[in-house]
Amino acid sequence: MFSRIKEDISVVFDRDPAARHTLEIITTYPGVHAIIMHRISHALSNRGLKWLARVLSNIARLFTGIEIHPAAVIGRRFFIDHGMGIVIGETAEIGDDCSLYHGVTLGGTSWTPGKRHPTLGNNVVVGAGAKILGPIMINDGARIGSNAVVVKEVPANTTVVGVPAREVIKSDMTQKNREKIANKMGFDAYGATQDMSDPVAKTVNRMLDHIHKMDERMDKMCIQMKSLGGEFDFEPLPGLKDAELSECNPEDHKDKHKTPHSTDKKE
Ligand SMILES: CC(C)(COP(=O)(O)OP(=O)(O)OC[C@H]1O[C@@H](n2cnc3c(N)ncnc32)[C@H](O)[C@@H]1OP(=O)(O)O)[C@@H](O)C(=O)NCCC(=O)NCCS
Repeated sequence: MFSRIKEDISVVFDRDPAARHTLEIITTYPGVHAIIMHRISHALSNRGLKWLARVLSNIARLFTGIEIHPAAVIGRRFFIDHGMGIVIGETAEIGDDCSLYHGVTLGGTSWTPGKRHPTLGNNVVVGAGAKILGPIMINDGARIGSNAVVVKEVPANTTVVGVPAREVIKSDMTQKNREKIANKMGFDAYGATQDMSDPVAKTVNRMLDHIHKMDERMDKMCIQMKSLGGEFDFEPLPGLKDAELSECNPEDHKDKHKTPHSTDKKE
């Protein structure tokens, strides 16, 4: 138990840049006080001294604002930052190297006895105000965003945010999806890919290419129809042969009055 308490104190240096020395940690960190008291009350609870364990955990709650049920199982190098408003239920289990911020609840959703609180794997970080509810598994390396409400299992090394909590899809994934769809459609439908300097110019140029091809096809069809005896007299269409839109240079538009931008179109 004492070696665990020692680890709980020394881990503060790794996870809180504000920590300066051991005396400061022992005297001013309510999270450390709460975990020391919990290690003692958990040991008492395991030895059958349930009432004494509850009393001790209530005293700790009074001084720290952190409520940890003596039966909750907490792994090594556990860190609580700030602490106020944390509730850790009776059947909660927490792995090694986890961190919790203030206002976190590891709570139950039913009154049925038995496992009703969450299980956290190793290296889990739970942001301020997050609620993790029910006997669900938060796997190793997961990160729970502040104020999230988690009601389903969280896969390993995943970040979840929101109410109800959903996995954060990193923007580079979204970017890949966008490019995939854009390639499939033949033009940049979203107009927002990172490596594209002027999406509007690109899209308009694609449309001009398309119209130009249609134009050529219509000419060929007219020639064929005339050779079969068809008689018609169309107005000549405006030429599109070299139509192209220049890409927009943001520098040119810094001062509208100094640099008119009416020369973008070549034809
Ligand atoms: C979720 C968290 C772990 C960051 O994870 P991350 O993988 O670095 O994610 P990012 O910061 O890149 O954000 C990813 C997306 O989630 C959103 N997001 C981040 N944290 C969020 C939160 N708590 N709630 C809702 N959305 C959140 C971001 O806006 C971003 O959205 P976007 O992709 O639409 O722009 C972090 O934001 C968090 O909440 N940490 C808890 C910290 C805390 O409680 N500190 C208290 C100190 S006293």
